[in-house]
Amino acid sequence: MTSTSQHYSRTAQMLHWLMAVIFIAAWLIGFYSGNFLSYDVDGSFKGQVISLHKNIATTIIFLVLIRLFWRYTHPVPPLPDTMSPLMKVLAHLGHLALYLMLLALPITGCLFSWSAGHPAPVLYLFEIPRLVQDNPELLAMVKPVHIYLSWFAGFLVIGHFAAALKHHFIDQDHVLRSMTRQEK
Ligand code: HEM
Repeated sequence: MTSTSQHYSRTAQMLHWLMAVIFIAAWLIGFYSGNFLSYDVDGSFKGQVISLHKNIATTIIFLVLIRLFWRYTHPVPPLPDTMSPLMKVLAHLGHLALYLMLLALPITGCLFSWSAGHPAPVLYLFEIPRLVQDNPELLAMVKPVHIYLSWFAGFLVIGHFAAALKHHFIDQDHVLRSMTRQEK
């Protein structure tokens, strides 16, 4: 559903920037824990860092569902006419891939945690009910999937960021402003 407005609604903008902050924080904390900490050297500190990663990252599941509901019940600004049909298709595919990542990463993260015998906590408030019990075979599958997906998602987000900057500074169109401003 597209609209004649050049801007996303305030709710869509708020969800976008909130999820951007949470995604980047979750990514950096997961990366730090996975690549710079070990239980042998860092002991319980590593456990605390992974717990922080999970408590932040699980919120993405709830936020992405709200966001998808909002996306399909509210009009979005059209892409600029200066973009070629191919670039418009690539932009839509990029957005679709980002939504898929925002679903797949927390889901594989939860499966990773549950199958290793650990909970999937949300903001230190409650735990997502376990859908699987300890399961070494599943763990051997979902662990690399979560890690490779996190890398793929990292590159997608960098590409998304670079595209937004290109629209703003090189093409000088309204794309970045559609996510930062409201109609005057
Ligand atoms: C948008 C959400 C998420 C992002 C962006 C994300 C990102 C990452 C990254 C970048 C890593 C490190 C990969 C590496 O070793 O190179 C990681 C590891 C990990 N993630 Fe996630 N993750 C997300 C959601 C979750 C969730 C919801 C859980 C569990 C409830 C989870 C559990 C884990 C665990 C247990 C590790 C391994 C950490 C370690 O070995 O020290 N992740 N994640």
